[in-house]
Amino acid sequence: MSTVSTEAMEFGRLTIAFDDRVLRPRPWTAAQSDWAAEILAAGPAGRVLELCSGAGQIGLLAIADNDRELVCVDLDPVACDYARRNAAAAGVAERVEIREGRIDEMVRDRERFAVVIADPPWVRRTETGRYPEDPLLAIDGGDDGMDIAWDCIDTARLHLMPAGSLLLQIGTVEQVDAVRERLRGDDLAVTEVRWHERGVLVRIDRL
Ligand SMILES: C[S@@+](CC[C@H](N)C(=O)[O-])C[C@H]1O[C@@H](n2cnc3c(N)ncnc32)[C@H](O)[C@@H]1O
Repeated sequence: MSTVSTEAMEFGRLTIAFDDRVLRPRPWTAAQSDWAAEILAAGPAGRVLELCSGAGQIGLLAIADNDRELVCVDLDPVACDYARRNAAAAGVAERVEIREGRIDEMVRDRERFAVVIADPPWVRRTETGRYPEDPLLAIDGGDDGMDIAWDCIDTARLHLMPAGSLLLQIGTVEQVDAVRERLRGDDLAVTEVRWHERGVLVRIDRL
């Protein structure tokens, strides 16, 4: 019988609980929280939607120092349990709703959000074996790594309010190029890209 032991780590000023059934929080991704908080400070009023939220740390840190409400969506029930627990530990549980399910099924038609944070699996299926410690559901992005990222962009297109922003995490130059190409002529546009050692953050604004 396997045993599960809960760990905790600092993520920005939050303490995040997780275990090895979910993706281990990656410290660099606090940059996604910080950028989202920056956008929220200047952007329209309204709620934040986090897609592929895992244990919730990126979205929770983004709203920790403001009064925004956050809706987190993840398919993995274990990740959702940790997100609930981490929201409570951060003292923001009353502003956070956790929805367990597929991102394309968990947002109601009429809902609109000021900012969408998305952290989909973005590893190419043929390369997932390089990361044996990571749960497959958390990293397998399909043939080109973009299967779930496209779902995130489609969900943002439907549910971002005017002047709202999607902050998307992906992994490679090719993936950034594919996003630019897909959004050519769209009412969503890439407005800034920030490169990090282990991933890339793409800001996509509703024009
Ligand atoms: C790269 S992990 C990110 C988790 C967390 N944001 C983090 O940084 O640790 C991707 C997450 O997407 C979830 N996921 C994968 N496919 C999904 C889908 N179709 N709908 C909702 N969540 C999904 C996984 O369960 C996993 O928690």
